[in-house]
Amino acid sequence: MEDRLKDFVAPGSEEEALLHHLDFSRLPLHIAIIMDGNGRWAEKRNLPRIEGHKAGSRAVKEAVESCFRLGIKYLTLYAFSKENWRRPASEVNMLWELLYDYLRKEDKELVKNKIKLKVIGQREGIPPKVCQELARVEALTRDFESMVVLLALNYGGRTEIVEAVKKIIKENKLKPDQIDENTFSQYLYTAGIPDPDLLIRTSGELRVSNFLLWQIAYAEIWITPDYWPDFSRRHLLQALIDYQKRERRFGAVRHPSAQSLP
Ligand code: IPE
Ligand code: IPE
Ligand code: MG
Repeated sequence: MEDRLKDFVAPGSEEEALLHHLDFSRLPLHIAIIMDGNGRWAEKRNLPRIEGHKAGSRAVKEAVESCFRLGIKYLTLYAFSKENWRRPASEVNMLWELLYDYLRKEDKELVKNKIKLKVIGQREGIPPKVCQELARVEALTRDFESMVVLLALNYGGRTEIVEAVKKIIKENKLKPDQIDENTFSQYLYTAGIPDPDLLIRTSGELRVSNFLLWQIAYAEIWITPDYWPDFSRRHLLQALIDYQKRERRFGAVRHPSAQSLP
């Protein structure tokens, strides 16, 4: 583990100070990120939106590496929502091209670090050559366990829930009273994966945009005004430290003695 953190932060940097504040025994098991703001990042620089997506793709690479080095077990990245089809075809096509390039290049890094890639969302609609690459990299990394990266593609939280209901009805194996929260969650795309503990959104938007609606029921939310292409180790460390300061009560009282406080 120490090995993984070698040269992670520069001596004397703000990141180094943040790293000292991190409690490695209380890291979130699962981080989910709504990677937002690529377009605005580009617009601010008078660049075409696609340049923002390219820079965003570099930030993905860095975020995966940073989470791996810190020992985060599950990372879910919202890369393309079902609603994103509403964008101009030229932007949509370029986004798929960028993903294709990412998969062609990053497969080696995933293998080197024994990271499993899993796609969540609907395959139908994704360009066939991208589907092929996704299937290839998923197969290549399927037995890896050091970390799982879930890529949410053509993903919609409501669709995921509707699909789970359909599957339960079609299978016709469960009686109504056998369906509880645990059995239901086994029909979601994320079956077997713990719910996110921490949900990060960049670009300051205060909404969940149809992301993991079921799974984020009790996630802690951390939002930065910075755009996704600028998301760096410093942001990640800050999010983790803020997360560790939160008290997760899950509906209970602060701690048993709090009941007797005035
Ligand atoms: C996030 O950045 C990337 C995707 C949704 C694919 P945006 O493209 O949404 O950037 P903004 O929100 O327009 O700035
Ligand atoms: C959410 O961002 C989807 C992804 C990050 C892939 P959007 O930019 O599409 O969300 P809205 O439109 O601001 O809700
Ligand atoms: Mg956006």
